[in-house]
Amino acid sequence: MNQFEFRDILPQEVEAAIAIEQTCFPPNEACSPKAMTERIAKVPDLFMVAVEKSTGEIAGFLNGVSTNETTFRDEFFTDISLCEHAGENIMLLGLDVLPRYRGKGLARAIVSAYCKREKEKGRKMLVLTCLEEKVPMYLKFGFADQGIANSSWGGEEWHEMTIIL
Ligand SMILES: CC(C)(COP(=O)(O)OP(=O)(O)OC[C@H]1O[C@@H](n2cnc3c(N)ncnc32)[C@H](O)[C@@H]1OP(=O)(O)O)[C@@H](O)C(=O)NCCC(=O)NCCS
Repeated sequence: MNQFEFRDILPQEVEAAIAIEQTCFPPNEACSPKAMTERIAKVPDLFMVAVEKSTGEIAGFLNGVSTNETTFRDEFFTDISLCEHAGENIMLLGLDVLPRYRGKGLARAIVSAYCKREKEKGRKMLVLTCLEEKVPMYLKFGFADQGIANSSWGGEEWHEMTIIL
């Protein structure tokens, strides 16, 4: 993973992030350009990008919002005012890797770098929702499956998964 730099997103990378989100998710699941723009403006320090050093291209990212809440609710996707900067937990909102960078361990590396950094900041737990088909992947990353989430995002059924840092 030496060919990638893991860092906070920059303001001028908003459009690139919106495009990656639309490549990675179907329309009913993707974060809207408006919510993505607000998220990056308010909490760039919780929006980690993996940048390919040789090209400067964003290959993938992981973003979230800090809170003292302990379970996921869909409002976190759309209402950035719920962010509590000193919150002890992170609700993860999106993990994206562009198709040509997949299958090489990049998602694992981004999640690992994100966990390490947030642990150093004193955070306690990361929470996310994912479709059933992604549960095995997050189990491999060290998350625990908490069962069906209180979420109807995109009209689908989601699992809530957590990792204690
Ligand atoms: C899911 C996604 C982030 C994986 O990215 P990636 O860089 O290819 O993942 P990695 O190479 O780090 O894979 C890590 C492990 O997860 C597994 N995995 C990856 N994608 C998987 C999938 N779609 N289903 C099940 N397991 C998967 C890999 O097999 C690998 O396991 P291994 O170490 O035993 O080989 C990427 O395919 C993507 O952006 N998809 C579209 C958006 C999405 O679904 N995001 C997650 C939403 S919750």
